[in-house]
Amino acid sequence: MGSCCCSRDDEAKAEQKFGKGGEKDVSGGPVKNRHCTDVLCCIIFVLHWFGFAAIVFAGYADGNPSKLYLPRDFKGDYCDLEEYQGVKKLLRTLNVSATVDEVAKQLICSTAAEDALVTILSSADLDDYRCACCKLPCASCQASLGLQDIEDPATAASSIGSRMSEFTDPSKAAALFSSGSANAVSFDAEAIWGEMTKFMVAVCLNQTSCA
Ligand SMILES: *[C@@H]1O[C@H](CO)[C@@H](O)[C@H](O)[C@H]1NC(C)=O
Ligand SMILES: *[C@@H]1O[C@H](CO)[C@@H](O)[C@H](O)[C@H]1NC(C)=O
Repeated sequence: MGSCCCSRDDEAKAEQKFGKGGEKDVSGGPVKNRHCTDVLCCIIFVLHWFGFAAIVFAGYADGNPSKLYLPRDFKGDYCDLEEYQGVKKLLRTLNVSATVDEVAKQLICSTAAEDALVTILSSADLDDYRCACCKLPCASCQASLGLQDIEDPATAASSIGSRMSEFTDPSKAAALFSSGSANAVSFDAEAIWGEMTKFMVAVCLNQTSCA
């Protein structure tokens, strides 16, 4: 309750100060004896402008403001700057490793492939193979690869064939981004657009080579 009393006291004091007839009575216009109160803050405020200016000048001297908006390729180089002067466009192409990785694993780690490999690999190599495919529990495996299994060579040919044709046959390229894509078992159009940096490689493109 003490604080309550205090604040009421303060209010009363403030009222006295600013009230009519008080020492800061403003009823007849601004008080007469006014003076600066925060000169030090004013100096610090002006100094901080100089600080900002210094940072901006240092940025200009050491850097290049166009880096703020120019596109960058997969290596982090800027298009249309330094050795890429004049190479203005940014092209995104499919990252073959990221897209074909699962197709290759699906084929190599399938039952169909295992059946074939069992007959030709030594038992040590077979263990390595099963470890790499996470068919055996081993240190490099967190879990099963979760790939759709292929049981026989004929299914392998048709299933892997239709997945690969979406990458290799330009007339089927649109199918990759359709809902009926054979690759939808691993990733669909939504995943590709949603993870552009994973599935696409950005490269600066010389404008003269682009229509
Ligand atoms: C392509 O994808 C692979 C696998 O995801 C990744 O290791 C590689 O860095 C990517 N390449 C580029 C150029 O982004
Ligand atoms: C862009 O292409 C033109 C014509 O092919 C070539 O003369 C020029 O050197 C290229 N520029 C770069 C930076 O690759």
